[in-house]
Amino acid sequence: MDELERLATEVRRAETVVAFTGAGISAPSGVPTFRGDDGVWKKFDEGQFTYGRFQADPEGFWADRVELQREMFDEEYEPNAAHEALAAMGHDGDLEAILTQNTDGLHDDAAAATRKDDDAAAATREDDDAAAATRKDDLGDDGTETPILELHGNSQRVRCTDCGKRQNGDPIFERAADGELPPTCDCGGVFKPDTVLFGEQLPGAVIQRARSLACKSDVFLAVGSSLVVEPAASLPRLAASTGATVGIVNLESTPCDDVADAVVRENVTTVLPRLRDHLE
Ligand code: APR
Repeated sequence: MDELERLATEVRRAETVVAFTGAGISAPSGVPTFRGDDGVWKKFDEGQFTYGRFQADPEGFWADRVELQREMFDEEYEPNAAHEALAAMGHDGDLEAILTQNTDGLHDDAAAATRKDDDAAAATREDDDAAAATRKDDLGDDGTETPILELHGNSQRVRCTDCGKRQNGDPIFERAADGELPPTCDCGGVFKPDTVLFGEQLPGAVIQRARSLACKSDVFLAVGSSLVVEPAASLPRLAASTGATVGIVNLESTPCDDVADAVVRENVTTVLPRLRDHLE
């Protein structure tokens, strides 16, 4: 039995499976990773995007952030087969939650596409009850959809640092690109990208929820992350210490490989669809 089959067996047996993803899951969609050869941190300095810099020099921060946005999000990305496989696992009740460090929103897009496929299939049958029933299948035991926790926030949104209002970032990034540095809210407050910057605390409730999901998991799947940044570096260890089977899917070795029960060093777009096929 290979590593993937062993992992699939554990997933089948498990009551609670939690997926934890990083930039490697979005790389096949064209989104740059952070630490690869073409990684974002080869072109930019992490120090340009610290919370301290945002506070001390919001104008310079935003000028650099516009460049980063261009580098990372200048094109429309689509979810790939790996996002789709996780969305399908969530839909089928095989996944308790997706925790992601990614800020690209592609897990949400994949979940939305899965729902749309369901609705379209039901509509084809011209059966409204079926549409309603299928829609209901998306919901977990507690009546909610498979939660997607964006630990590092979302790059497509901004948040006002005064009134806290969140909104679509596109027009704000455009205003910044046109020279409004830093862009400000109607209330006069400075907008901040709705992502967690280096040196900024992750929201307490989010990190707490991520930890408790890691502790609760029977299988913890770390996918496409170098696992060097906190909390990524400690969540697989936490899951392992509370008895979870840890699976790591990543092209390169990671500092958490020593706690993993299965390490699969292959492309996420090959591995996750195969994992899902094993569950059917
Ligand atoms: N299949 C499997 N693994 C892949 C693939 C792929 N197709 N493409 C890349 N990878 C792996 C790389 O080998 C690498 O180890 O994905 C990993 C991506 O690592 P990072 O670039 O470090 O990304 P991530 O772990 O998500 O970074 C964490 O660091 O800078 C911060 O806030 C940023 O959220 C980010 C955090």
